[in-house]
Amino acid sequence: MSKRWFQAHQRDTWRRQARSKGYRTRSAFKLKQIQEKFLLIREGDLILDVGSHPGGWTQVAVEETGPNGLVIGIDLLTSAPVEGAQMVLGDVTDPNCQESILDLLHEGLKVDGTNLHPVADDETRMFNTIVSDISPRLTGQYDRDQAISLELVAMVFDFTLPLLAPGGAFVTKIFQGTGIEGIINAAKQRFSRVQRFSPEASRSSSSEVFLVCRNKLPHPKKGSRGTSIAQELDIHLESEGIIQQKDSGPRDSVKSGFRRIPKKE
Ligand SMILES: C[S@@+](CC[C@H](N)C(=O)[O-])C[C@H]1O[C@@H](n2cnc3c(N)ncnc32)[C@H](O)[C@@H]1O
Repeated sequence: MSKRWFQAHQRDTWRRQARSKGYRTRSAFKLKQIQEKFLLIREGDLILDVGSHPGGWTQVAVEETGPNGLVIGIDLLTSAPVEGAQMVLGDVTDPNCQESILDLLHEGLKVDGTNLHPVADDETRMFNTIVSDISPRLTGQYDRDQAISLELVAMVFDFTLPLLAPGGAFVTKIFQGTGIEGIINAAKQRFSRVQRFSPEASRSSSSEVFLVCRNKLPHPKKGSRGTSIAQELDIHLESEGIIQQKDSGPRDSVKSGFRRIPKKE
């Protein structure tokens, strides 16, 4: 029996199970298995689901938070509504879209016109747990896809961590390869427990692993105060000789796949 056949067979099995249980994706089982092991989501929680389309993880998060909880899903693609969740359409790295999420937290969160989580004027609700299955559009070139994905994960961390309550948890998919130690080390500066986990439902895709970060510290540890996760990833990549020092690149540049490319005018 070839490895490829076995992997395809496993994926089909999870797909069939997802269909029979009413989940939109087989990935739903990945979050279910993460939840079974770590119990990150509790009844009544406020959850952010990053890269939520078509809504498999959102469905699982809604089940776990129950009628008093709320899940906010965000994705570039439109998803059919999920009862108990509010879906935001947009790019999580785009400041306008980030503003919409901040507005939701600040204004109070409504589902079907009901104000579920009224907040005082000067109060902003914080997420209890953030889950991210985000994945960029894949090019098929593994090294490049893995690098782009890592940078995306760093951006998601940097935007969402200030919105996560102290003691809260963060789960993200990462692809094995260059630089992941940089992200893991940066996470360890901000959470008291960080570990990799490979749910059974994702073992057929050997390159992906989930980083489970628990108990967010009230402040990053000393060495990381004032730096972002994206900066710490860069420092790690520079120290490994994977990218050149920032100063030696063109000033106004963006990175793509660990290669700095000049911004288009
Ligand atoms: C593997 S899918 C998520 C599947 C989902 N967890 C489920 O079970 O239904 C990854 C998603 O990340 C989204 N994505 C990629 N880049 C994004 C970005 N910058 N902002 C928001 N979503 C993004 C993609 O559109 C895609 O839908």
